[in-house]
Amino acid sequence: MDGVGEELDLEDLAGIGSSTAEKLRRAGISSVKELAAISVRELLEMSELGEGKAEEATKSARELCLPKVLSAKEFLERRRKMPRLTTGSKNIDRLLGGGLEPGVTELIGAFGTGKTQLCLQLCVTVQLTENRGGLNGAAFYIDTEDTLKPERILQIAKRFGIEDEQILEGVYCFRAINSDHQFEGLREAARYIKEKSVKLLIVDSLTSHFRSEYPGRENLVLRQQRLNNFMHGLQRLVSLYDLIVVATNQVVDVPEVIPGARPARPAGGNIVAHGSTFRLWLERSKGMTRLTCIDSPKHARDTTYVTLTEGGVEDAEEEV
Ligand SMILES: Nc1ncnc2c1ncn2[C@@H]1O[C@H](COP(=O)(O)OP(=O)(O)O)[C@@H](O)[C@H]1O
Ligand SMILES: [Mg+2]
Repeated sequence: MDGVGEELDLEDLAGIGSSTAEKLRRAGISSVKELAAISVRELLEMSELGEGKAEEATKSARELCLPKVLSAKEFLERRRKMPRLTTGSKNIDRLLGGGLEPGVTELIGAFGTGKTQLCLQLCVTVQLTENRGGLNGAAFYIDTEDTLKPERILQIAKRFGIEDEQILEGVYCFRAINSDHQFEGLREAARYIKEKSVKLLIVDSLTSHFRSEYPGRENLVLRQQRLNNFMHGLQRLVSLYDLIVVATNQVVDVPEVIPGARPARPAGGNIVAHGSTFRLWLERSKGMTRLTCIDSPKHARDTTYVTLTEGGVEDAEEEV
């Protein structure tokens, strides 16, 4: 979203006085930009505002901050200005057409394929300077599986020539113990993005709590609804802050194996598939990890190989 609305106070909006502004702030909305990104229905759920006020407030925020219509040329210019983040692997950067960009990138794969290793590596690369492909920013890490190991970040940092433990100060860790807590992590992340220079949000893993708390077909509808809310929350942060989000996802076995098809599919069904902009599938193959870009609005389906080493995720010597 463009910069308009960032310098404005909520009170600057037509029809919003100090008491309405106070109610909005209590609901966690502190800028015109955030107000513009919210629907009346959500606002009614989160705040004490009445329907008339909620409609008036969101409408005037939208009018002020959201561009009406852009030409495709303007749209392209805007996209060109967006940040790009190196993964620390030339092969993966190439697969992504030059690194990670704002949006939700999903890392899909079975246990041990290197999803967490890549997330930890990104905690290092996001802190690199721009001339090294970084964003000079910090990472916010929502860890649902207790796999965030600071020692690994230090080992990986070494490969990038960084010996200083200071690198750990640029990684904000949120250990989410259940799905409610995972939502809280998202709200905390929003606060850190505003207050610290967080440029990367990691959710590792996106689906594990939802899958264990809502097992079986009988809970499917509720599980998908909750996942949908979470994906929606991620998407909102992307559009508000041009944020780069990386979320890991497990695979589930497909009972009927269609000849030639993958015997597994990503968890979360269509809700997660539609909520992600880019989807990378990781598989172990001959001691390496093979990555396939299975979904992207602009890249062809392509494959590359990396190895998992003490230094993190490195390009495989030879692509097979
Ligand atoms: N210090 C290390 N040195 C070399 N390889 C490592 C090291 N730590 C982790 N790995 C590799 O990473 C794998 C685990 O990858 P991980 O990212 O945790 O998988 P997941 O996809 O389940 O998140 C290990 O099996 C190993 O191959
Ligand atoms: Mg993991």
